Amino acid sequence: MKIHVLSDQQQLGAFGADLVVEALSTRPDPLLGVATGSSPEPVYTALARRVEQEGLDLSHVEVVALDEYLGLPPGHPESYAQVVDRTVRVPLRLDPRRVRVPDALAPDPQAAARAHDEVVRTHAGADIQLLGLGHNGHIAFNEPGAPLTSRTRVVELSASTRQANARFFGGDPAAVPDRAITQGVATILSARRLLLVATGSGKARAVASALAGPVTPDCPGSALQRHPHLTVLLDPGAAARLPDAVRDAAVRGPGALTGRG
Ligand code: GLP
Repeated sequence: MKIHVLSDQQQLGAFGADLVVEALSTRPDPLLGVATGSSPEPVYTALARRVEQEGLDLSHVEVVALDEYLGLPPGHPESYAQVVDRTVRVPLRLDPRRVRVPDALAPDPQAAARAHDEVVRTHAGADIQLLGLGHNGHIAFNEPGAPLTSRTRVVELSASTRQANARFFGGDPAAVPDRAITQGVATILSARRLLLVATGSGKARAVASALAGPVTPDCPGSALQRHPHLTVLLDPGAAARLPDAVRDAAVRGPGALTGRG
C-alpha cells in the first residue's frame, strides 16, 4: 500500500489521473473501474482536462461501474447509470457501448448482478479500479458484515448509508433506495490496481479503520489492505486519524511516479 497525502483537490486529481492513464496504457483493451460519489470527482475532472486539452483518447477503454441502486425509475438523475454518464462518460468522451453499469431495470436483479460480475471476470479484473470509502467503512455498497469473499450481488443498504446519500435525494433518507446491486469485495480486489480516494475529516475514522485496523467484514474497506497494488490518495483531513507510523510513512504530495504500491 502506498498512501499519498495531497494538499488540494487539484493536485489530488492530477496525480490520480496520472495513475489511471498509466494503468490503462498497459493493455490494448483496458478495463477502467469507476466509482460514483464525490471522492473520485477530482480525478475525473483532471482526466477530462487531458481529453479536452491534450488529446488523451480513451474511446477504446471499457468501463465498469461498482454499483447501482435498485428501485429507481428509468432515467432517474441519481441512478448511477445517469451519474456515470454525466460525470464520466460524457466528459471523458467514452464510447457508450463500452460503459457498463449494473442493470437495475432487469426483471431479475440477481441475474443482472451475475452478468455484471461476468464483465469483470472476462477481463480477469479491472486494470485499475477507483474507489471511495463510506463513513461506515463500506466500499461500493458492501456494507459492514459483507463477506470479504463476496462477488457482485443484490444487497440491502444500511440506515447510515441511506442517511449519507440522502443529500442526493432532497435530504430525505427515506427517498434513498434500500437495495442495490454491488460488486463484491472479492470482485473489487480482482483489479490489478486499486485507487482509493478519501477526503475530508468526516472520513478520517473510516480511513484509519480501513487502512490500519484489523482486516474484518466489520469494515469492508479493510480488505483493501490485502491488495498488492493499492494506492491511497488522501487530504490532510482524511489522514488525520491514521496512526503516527502510518502517517509518517505516507508520501507528502505525488512523490515519484515509479515504485508506488
Ligand atoms: C456511495 C457509493 C460508494 C462511494 C461512497 C462514498 O455509497 N456507493 O461507491 O464510495 O458513497 O461516497 P463519497 O465519495 O461521496 O463520500
